[in-house]
Amino acid sequence: MALSLTILVGTMTGTAEMVAQEVQTVLEAAGHAVTIRMMDDLDAGVFQAGGTFLICTSTYGQGDVPDNAQEFFASLERERPDLTGVTYGLIALGDRTYKDTFCEGGIRFDQLLTELGARRTAELLKHDASSGTLPEEVAAQWVVHWAEMVEADSAHANNPDGENQRQAAGSPRITRI
Ligand SMILES: Cc1cc2nc3c(=O)[nH]c(=O)nc-3n(C[C@H](O)[C@H](O)[C@H](O)COP(=O)(O)O)c2cc1C
Repeated sequence: MALSLTILVGTMTGTAEMVAQEVQTVLEAAGHAVTIRMMDDLDAGVFQAGGTFLICTSTYGQGDVPDNAQEFFASLERERPDLTGVTYGLIALGDRTYKDTFCEGGIRFDQLLTELGARRTAELLKHDASSGTLPEEVAAQWVVHWAEMVEADSAHANNPDGENQRQAAGSPRITRI
């Protein structure tokens, strides 16, 4: 099933945007429709119609979200919209050198979205800039699994009985995190 999703990018020096572009390439090659939006000038209204989102953000300062995400984050905290129609995944970029605040920008988004009723699919991807791996490569691998889980969840939501029947018949069980 083809997904239609939006990647929201919080970045200071462009790494998260590059990661989002790589992820977009991978997802589009798999037949999904992907829009990238920088968090600059976004507000809580971006989630109004619900849907599937990928948050891709770095961390700065003392575990803060990047500058271009500050207003967006503040508007979510202020307006506290009901996000029960939102499904999301989260790619958090950070550096373990900042050991007390590793990936805290992404973690803060995750906590807030969950508080507001959004549902995360799969664990956060936390990329460590000091690990020697390239974030766009790690994210390109991770997102394949993420998209499969979102697809499985959507199929289940659309046809819960069919899912139960397949499971009862001994088909592989899909584990949701
Ligand atoms: C001044 C500065 C502060 C940072 N603070 C943190 C931090 O508190 N925690 C963390 O995990 N990473 C921190 N980082 C690492 C960045 O989040 C990481 O390098 C990320 O890949 C940058 O992505 P971007 O170019 O999209 O902003 C910091 C980097 C800089 C330059």
